[in-house]
Amino acid sequence: MNNAVVNVNGEIVKGPEAKISVFDRSFLYGDSLYEVVRSYGNMFTYVDEHMERLQTSAKLCQMDLAQSPEFLKQELTRTFGKYREIFPQFASKDTYCRIVISRGVGNIGFGLPCIISGSHYYLILQPLNPPTPEQYQCGFHLKISTRLRNHPKALDPAMKSGNYLNNILAYLEAANENYDDALLCNADEHITEGTTFNIFYVRHGTLATPPLDIGILAGITRAKTIQIAKKLNLPVIETRFPKERLYEADEVFITSTIKEIFPITRIDNRTIGTGEPGPITKILSRAYTDQTKWLSA
Ligand SMILES: Cc1ncc(COP(=O)(O)O)c(C=O)c1O
Repeated sequence: MNNAVVNVNGEIVKGPEAKISVFDRSFLYGDSLYEVVRSYGNMFTYVDEHMERLQTSAKLCQMDLAQSPEFLKQELTRTFGKYREIFPQFASKDTYCRIVISRGVGNIGFGLPCIISGSHYYLILQPLNPPTPEQYQCGFHLKISTRLRNHPKALDPAMKSGNYLNNILAYLEAANENYDDALLCNADEHITEGTTFNIFYVRHGTLATPPLDIGILAGITRAKTIQIAKKLNLPVIETRFPKERLYEADEVFITSTIKEIFPITRIDNRTIGTGEPGPITKILSRAYTDQTKWLSA
C-alpha cells in the first residue's frame, strides 16, 4: 500500500491517500470487475487482450462501461508516468497494475436506478512481487480444495468479477494445511483451475488443460502457453479430467500473468514426476518469458 500509486476515477494519489465511497457498488455488493496487467520494465504487456477480456466480463454481468479500452489504456500510461515520478527507484522494475471497474456509486438497493454515476475505474500500481527463482526450483505444493469452483450458471468463472470469496476460502483451506495454494474441482469432480491461475499437465509429451466451457477464466497466459506449445510442436489437448490424472502426470504447471508458467511439484501430498520442475515446463516457461520480454523491449 505504501509503495502504491492509485488512480481513483481520474485522480492520481499515493496508496494511503486513496479513498472510495462506501456507496460504491464494488464495496456494497462486490459489483465490480477487474484485470491484472504487468510490466516488464517500462512496458505493459498483453494490455489489449486484458481489455478484451474486460469487455467480455462486462457483457457477462450486464455492465455498461463508461470507460472505453482506449481511455483505460491512456489512464494506465498516465498513472504509470506518475508512479515513476513518485517512485523513481522503481522506474526500471517490473510493475503490477490492478484495474478495477465498479458498476458505480449510488443508493443502497440492487436496482440500476439506484446508481447515480456511470461505472467508476480504479488503477492500483505497485512493484511486482513475482515468485523467486528458489520458489520456482521448489515448485508449488497444491491442495485440491473440498470447495467447488462456481458453476458457470451461478457466478460464471469466465467473468473476472470482484467476487473472489469462493477462491479465497479455497486458498485459506489449503494455506491452513501448509500448501502454497489450491485447485478447485467442479461438481462432476473434474479439475477446473486454481484460485488465481489455470492448470496444465504433461503426460508422455502431450499437454492437457481443462476446456474453457468447463467454467474457468480464459487466462491470457493459458492462451499464450497453448500458442507457444503448438509453435514448438508439442501436442495440446483441452479435456476434462479427474484429479488422478494430475497425480499420475509427468509434469504439472500453472499459468497466470504474475506467475507466468510455474511448476507444481506436489499435489495433495503426492510428488509429481521427479518432484522437480519438468523439462517441458522449463522449455515453455523460458519461451513464454522470452516472448513476453521481447514484446516489451
Ligand atoms: C481464477 C483465475 N484463473 C486464471 C487466472 C489466470 O489468468 P491470466 O493468465 O489472464 O492472468 C486468473 C488470474 O487472475 C484467475 O484469477
